[in-house]
Amino acid sequence: MALALNVELRPATPGDVESMAGVYARAFGHSSKLDQIVEAFQVYMELAERGRGGCIVAEHEGSVVATGCYALYGGHAWIGAVTVEPRLQRRRIGTAVTRRLLQLLHGRVPSIGLDATPAGEQLYRWLGFTPEYRTTAYLLPEKPPVLGGRLRVEELDAVPAWLRELDAEAAGGDRAALIEAWLRRGAKLLAVKGEGYALVHRCRRGPLIARSIDAAWSLLAEAMARGGRRLIAPAVNQQVLEMLAVLGARETHVFTRMRLGSPRPEKPEMIYAIHSYMKG
Ligand SMILES: CC(C)(COP(=O)(O)OP(=O)(O)OC[C@H]1O[C@@H](n2cnc3c(N)ncnc32)[C@H](O)[C@@H]1OP(=O)(O)O)[C@@H](O)C(=O)NCCC(=O)NCCS
Repeated sequence: MALALNVELRPATPGDVESMAGVYARAFGHSSKLDQIVEAFQVYMELAERGRGGCIVAEHEGSVVATGCYALYGGHAWIGAVTVEPRLQRRRIGTAVTRRLLQLLHGRVPSIGLDATPAGEQLYRWLGFTPEYRTTAYLLPEKPPVLGGRLRVEELDAVPAWLRELDAEAAGGDRAALIEAWLRRGAKLLAVKGEGYALVHRCRRGPLIARSIDAAWSLLAEAMARGGRRLIAPAVNQQVLEMLAVLGARETHVFTRMRLGSPRPEKPEMIYAIHSYMKG
């Protein structure tokens, strides 16, 4: 597709990952986290290899100037990493990238979700997305109050069937391929058998899915002991908001979860932390 400004859209390949991470970092002003951003795009590439997602890029004068990705979670899809090089923003490139993603997903899933920044929200509204609820990013204090989780937390090296089913019940889709991709990259998978799990990688925790507040506290206590201070909570889960207040967590960003199509059969009351803004 040719756009004004001579921009071409095409599927991304693994060789684009460094350039995509650069565009993403400049769009969000994250100059210091390039390796983490590269890794997040590599996970999209792994999903692409398994027919579970992919990315597209926009090229202008031989350089990647915009990105956009999607993940397929069975009953629904997720759109993420829609970013445009700052010098080329407000020229409809973000709209074209998102439209292309919607074309790719057309007829494949009944529902598409995303977490919109304030800058992205209007663009998505024009494309038919409607707001669902806020997803708020928190920074936990360096020394949170000592917590005693009461349930036994174990570390797993693979995704058992119960965990896959639990995650599907909470998120309304099958995210096993996503969790497995992070495990291959060294993420820690913590679990309270049959009750909940948390994925911990570098500074981030999420998803944290639990059937009970006991399981959620136990997993959060263990996740905090492993370091890392960031977590994104759905603002419709009162329990996690209360937990974060007890911990003295500080809000850093507020995004809007939006949907196109029918509601996902999710249970937000089981979601104590989402995976990420990029992947739902
Ligand atoms: C959000 C983003 C992808 C939009 O891409 P873009 O090419 O600049 O957007 P478009 O030109 O297609 O804009 C479409 C509309 O979106 C809205 N919009 C875009 N950028 C906006 C901003 N910074 N603030 C408020 N509204 C914005 C506007 O309504 C705009 O229409 P207008 O220019 O006629 O007012 C781009 O600005 C970006 O990379 N921002 C930083 C990263 C980000 O927030 N990504 C979205 C993740 S959900």
